[in-house]
Amino acid sequence: MQKSIRQTMILTGVGLALMMTGCSGVETAPSGKSLYDRLGGKPAITAVVDQFVVNVANDTRINGRFATTDIPKMKGHLVDQVCMATGGSCTYTGRAMRPLHAGMKITDGDFSALVGDLVAALDKFKVPAQEKNELLGILGPLKKDIVE
Ligand code: HEM
Repeated sequence: MQKSIRQTMILTGVGLALMMTGCSGVETAPSGKSLYDRLGGKPAITAVVDQFVVNVANDTRINGRFATTDIPKMKGHLVDQVCMATGGSCTYTGRAMRPLHAGMKITDGDFSALVGDLVAALDKFKVPAQEKNELLGILGPLKKDIVE
């Protein structure tokens, strides 16, 4: 798995031009490949989400919040969300971000902890900086709907 992720992504030389042109939403590299494809598609996204959930489960700053969560179901929703947001042909069927997280009193610190756990998962699979930053750039704006 790690090998194929690396191969898929390293082959794609994506410049900073895309970010500098101010593109938002689903990013497409000059190669024409979507971020979804450059990440390695659903198998790679699933591997990263699996690792992310392991990291969150071990993160004592925030793991208590997931004590009663149906983890397999949440994982499926996270994979679909990332897949759809990066240009894959998936449909996110989970709840909308704002009502889902409303009332949880999620702080900036909680959000940073969770992003750190995601970055650690991306780094474990050696996702290159370009793709990592594009993904974080897609998820970052959700903060306003999550942090209270
Ligand atoms: C960009 C950041 C985030 C994204 C994209 C995100 C996304 C999601 C998704 C897709 C689900 C599952 C939706 C569903 O089952 O319908 C979920 C559930 C959940 N999220 Fe987030 N989330 C983010 C940040 C956070 C943060 C910072 C916290 C708190 C530390 C948090 C706490 C939770 C909890 C506790 C659940 C489970 C709720 C339940 O058990 O029903 N989330 N999140």
